[in-house]
Amino acid sequence: MVPLKRRKVVSPGTGNTGDSGNTGSTGSGDKVPIKFPQSVLFLLERKMGASRRAFLSQLGRKKGFQVEELFIESVTHVISENNSGDEVRTWLDSQVGGRAPAHLLDISWYTESMRAGHPVEILHRHKLQEQQVNEAEAVVFNIPSYACQRRTALDNHNTVLTFVSQDALSLLAENAELSDEDGRGVAFRRAAAVLKALPEPVTGMTQLRGLPCLGGHSLRVIKDILEDGASGEVELTKESERFKALKVLTGIFGVGVKTAERWIREQIHSLQQLQDSGQTLNRAQQAGLEHYDDLNQPVTKAEADAIGEIVREAVMSVLPGAQITVIGGFRRGKLTGHDVDFLVTHPEEGREVGLMPKVVSWLESQFSALQGFLLYQKTTRNSYLESKDGPARPASNMDRFERCFSIFKLPEEETRGTKQTETLTENTPEDTCSLAANWQVKGGEQMKPAGHKAWRAVRVDLVVSPISQFAFALLGWTGSKLFERELRRWAGHEKAMSLSSHALYDNKQSRYLRATSEEEIFAHLGLDYIPPSERNA
Ligand code: UTP
Ligand code: MN
Repeated sequence: MVPLKRRKVVSPGTGNTGDSGNTGSTGSGDKVPIKFPQSVLFLLERKMGASRRAFLSQLGRKKGFQVEELFIESVTHVISENNSGDEVRTWLDSQVGGRAPAHLLDISWYTESMRAGHPVEILHRHKLQEQQVNEAEAVVFNIPSYACQRRTALDNHNTVLTFVSQDALSLLAENAELSDEDGRGVAFRRAAAVLKALPEPVTGMTQLRGLPCLGGHSLRVIKDILEDGASGEVELTKESERFKALKVLTGIFGVGVKTAERWIREQIHSLQQLQDSGQTLNRAQQAGLEHYDDLNQPVTKAEADAIGEIVREAVMSVLPGAQITVIGGFRRGKLTGHDVDFLVTHPEEGREVGLMPKVVSWLESQFSALQGFLLYQKTTRNSYLESKDGPARPASNMDRFERCFSIFKLPEEETRGTKQTETLTENTPEDTCSLAANWQVKGGEQMKPAGHKAWRAVRVDLVVSPISQFAFALLGWTGSKLFERELRRWAGHEKAMSLSSHALYDNKQSRYLRATSEEEIFAHLGLDYIPPSERNA
């Protein structure tokens, strides 16, 4: 064993000397009384690092532990991280007096005590002498690096601790995305997705060795959470004014990061401030602000089904024989979503052309004598032309289907009723009429006591694809977003192919690869087929 450099210093190297006793410094002078005077703790900076040591020491003091800044006479517990018993003893030898305190403990004793709120019983495994042994026994996971090579179900096998880490990484991803740092955002999303895909709960950092997509930053966050139950960085981010304001403002339909940032620069942090500011809002943003609460309340599966029935009725009325498929999160089996997405096609190529304006007209003319099903809609035409656009350029992930971004006016459950749904599935013209008529009578505001509206606003996306592109559109619109991104990355990096929601192009063969099902596309890409319910990366 190589002896450590002998240092004749008392201080652990924090540069903070002459301040003995529990400094109790929690940052702003809010001293917490010592609750456990029999345990005098000292955290060794070696391998732990100064900032982590400071963070952990403060955490302890806040909970009433006596954590000493300096290695003074009265210290009873020396706590270290990633040090062997020999290493710590060598360090102790180097200290003036060379005295050995009662306990040489691993950081696990400290973090467990933090969690318990009192010094926990010292077990065999906490004692430093006994460390190192269990590392080899730890389960080490082996998972493929692209999310599209993995099966990610909605509920994964993780413990609460891993869920927390996953959420923490997702929050950092969100923060990066809201700060226009998409690269960092994706890195955190990939890391969170790896945790989601693990077959067993994570209990220690050694298990994460060799896993893909876990960079230094993500590992640090996971470590903090596994050990301390929280990450300082995540907690700070969550509480930051900027993050909170960005979330509130981008929560308005029609408001992106750029707009939100501009408003924040103009001291607009809340909806009230936005309203007071007299900013000019476009039509989408006006609708977004008006229906803010509804649109920020998750859409349930039942509501998605009800909207599906309305969309089906609309599409069937204007183009009998068309096919409607729910896409996005609900196709992956999610129980709630931020919107409902539908893909419409017709088995005869070309019959779908011009469908959207007709569907929109139908929707606008229904619901009640006064108002239609749509509170807002913006339709874009199909601008994709294979001959003109060529193989999907990797930079252009925006697809160019005929598409309708809308806000639906969904009648409340009691006005929808179950009978209507039953009759609708039979889809006879009479029933279809009675459905619309039913809503006309029941759905009006006048049916409700004043102040209570009989409907709720829901975001709905409609996409129309020609049948020849249907499989690509279906795959591209089922998500998750990370799964899609990973599919395109796999195609480009591993297969020299370009994948979009319109087509798959093989750069080596210089030709398009056709497909009529998702299974065929996975096969073209040399991937095992992953069903929608397992694309929840
Ligand atoms: P959503 O944003 O609706 O996500 O996009 P989601 O998975 O349904 O989750 P919720 O709605 O937040 O619950 C659905 C899919 O459509 C693709 C995305 O890649 C995602 O996989 N999409 C979305 C596009 O291809 N282009 C777009 O402009 C928008
Ligand atoms: Mn969706």
